[in-house]
Formats: sequence, C-alpha cells, structure tokens
Amino acid sequence: MINRKVIVKVPASTANLGPGFDTLGMALSLYAWIEMSALASGETVIDLHGDGLNGIPRDKSNLIYKIAQLVFDEAGVAIPELHISMYSEIPLTRGLGSSASAIIGALTAANALIGNPLEQDRLFQIATKLEGHPDNVGASLFGGIIVSSWDGSRAELIRLEPHPELDVLVAIPAFQLSTEKARHALPSQIALNDAVFNVASSSLLVAALASGRFDLIKHAMRDRLHQPYRAALIPGMATILEEATAHGALGAALSGAGPTLLALVEAGSPQRGELEAFLKATLLKEGIEAQTMWLKPCVSGPELTVWEGPDESASFMERIKGEIIA
Ligand code: HSE
Repeated sequence: MINRKVIVKVPASTANLGPGFDTLGMALSLYAWIEMSALASGETVIDLHGDGLNGIPRDKSNLIYKIAQLVFDEAGVAIPELHISMYSEIPLTRGLGSSASAIIGALTAANALIGNPLEQDRLFQIATKLEGHPDNVGASLFGGIIVSSWDGSRAELIRLEPHPELDVLVAIPAFQLSTEKARHALPSQIALNDAVFNVASSSLLVAALASGRFDLIKHAMRDRLHQPYRAALIPGMATILEEATAHGALGAALSGAGPTLLALVEAGSPQRGELEAFLKATLLKEGIEAQTMWLKPCVSGPELTVWEGPDESASFMERIKGEIIA
C-alpha cells in the first residue's frame, strides 16, 4: 500500500496568443491545486473546494480520478480507491485552460504518487491526446511560452523563456463559452492568403517573443484564422483587438477559445490604468461585466510537494491558503 500524499500546484494558461491557433501557449500566474493519496480502505473521496468547481462530479466519473487511473494502468499498478482534493482559482470555460490544468495536475499527481515512472514527454503526449491540441496542456506542463505541434499521433514542443518585463492583463467576461461552441464558429476551409497571413504573424510573434522585440508584437498578434469568426460570440472583442494598442497594450488576443480577452503589456507601462479601464468599458458598452486581473507569465510547470508516511499535520485548504489569490 502506498503511504504517500502529493499536492500539485498547476498554472493556468492562455492558448493561441492571436495567430498561433492550437500551437502557441503561455502559462499564467493563476493556479489550481490537487492533492492525492491512496486509500487503504473505504471508497474514493473527492473533495472540491470553492464555488468555482460547482457542478463537477465527485464520483468516479470525475476527470481527475479517471486520469489518475489512466496513469496507474499505463504504469501497471492498481490503486482503485483515492482521496482527491481540489481547489482552483482558474475560472471554468473562460479560455484560461482550466481543463488543461486539471489534466496536467491529475497526470502529475498520479505519477508522483507511484514514484514518477512516466517521463514528462509521456505525460505531454497523453495530455495532448486527451485535450485534442497541445497549446494549453504544454504551457501548464512546462511553464513559460510554448511553441508546439501535433500531427494526431505525436506532439512536439519548444519552450521559450518569457521576457521578465512582460505583464499580462486579462478581462474575464461574466459568461461562459464552451470550446466546442467556439470551435463550431470556425469555417472548415480558409483562403490561402489568410493562411499565409497567419504563418507570417505566428512566426514573427515567436521570433519577437524570443528576442524581446516588444515593438513587433502589435503587428505579429494579428490573426485571420479564428478570431474574426469568433467575434460574434464575444461582443466588444473586435474593438478591443483593434484599439488595445492605442491604450498601451503591446498586443491583444482572445485567450484560447474565449471569452477572456488578453493584452500583453510592458511592465511599468504608464498606461496600465487606461488599458484596464478601456477593456472594462468596451465590454460594458455591450452589456458585459468583466473582471480584470494583472498576471505574469508563469515560468515553471507544476510544483509538487510529496509527504512520505502518515501526515495529519494540516488540512488541504490550510496547506494552500497562504498562496491563493484573495
Ligand atoms: N486552441 C484552442 C482553441 C484552445 O482556440 O480552440 C482552446 O482549448
């Protein structure tokens, strides 16, 4: 019987960064925590803390539980009954990678519980297959900015160190938008000149982020693959994408499949307040309340704490409460 308890802290992520549809991602300083231990007796217990996780199953249909079993199966061990606790400050279905962070958290916690038999790359391959694209999961697993590809059988990834002067402002609208709905808005075919435009923008963006060329970000964050088609689902988005740079953003994009909007900002910009007010006011003009948050790129993947032997010193929420955004 495994007598070990693990807690993993996983970052949220933003996908696409404008033109890098299903390819670029960046980890953000907003987190989910998952604690996992094996139960010697009794049935699986799943404790979900905080209002953000309302509606998520607490039985064995829970995603964290199912992914943990997948890891155990692959490693050839059997741990049918688990105690899982979770708290997340990443809002669900808003385009901040909440499901990717749950997947990465579950894979990392389950793997650590059995002594890490699976390599990081294996976890990345499993996560990409589960999520369907590598952008959010890659960012949550490796931290920083990631450039990835997926051919349906293998995912590849290169991680870039975010520039230390890069800040991120997100405006999180008070409505949910499922990735499925946001993907349904996309056409099945696009014109060659739009494809070329995105190849150019995405390549330039990667080079600009890698070399700290902040001046090029506003040109490079333009997209013709998905944002124009998703605009109708997020009133105010088109104005924000067009005008955010005039209010101090280096560039702006829809975060993942939305509805969250994201602006990259140079740390110390004198226009921070103006930009934040512009995002809020533009959405409000469309009748949409939004919460704004200033974040940093998160430079590392999951942080893992492991306790060997019995550990009754503190409850899950007591352990993490000092780290949660109030
Ligand atoms: N790249 C994905 C999309 C992210 O834009 O649909 C959402 O999971």
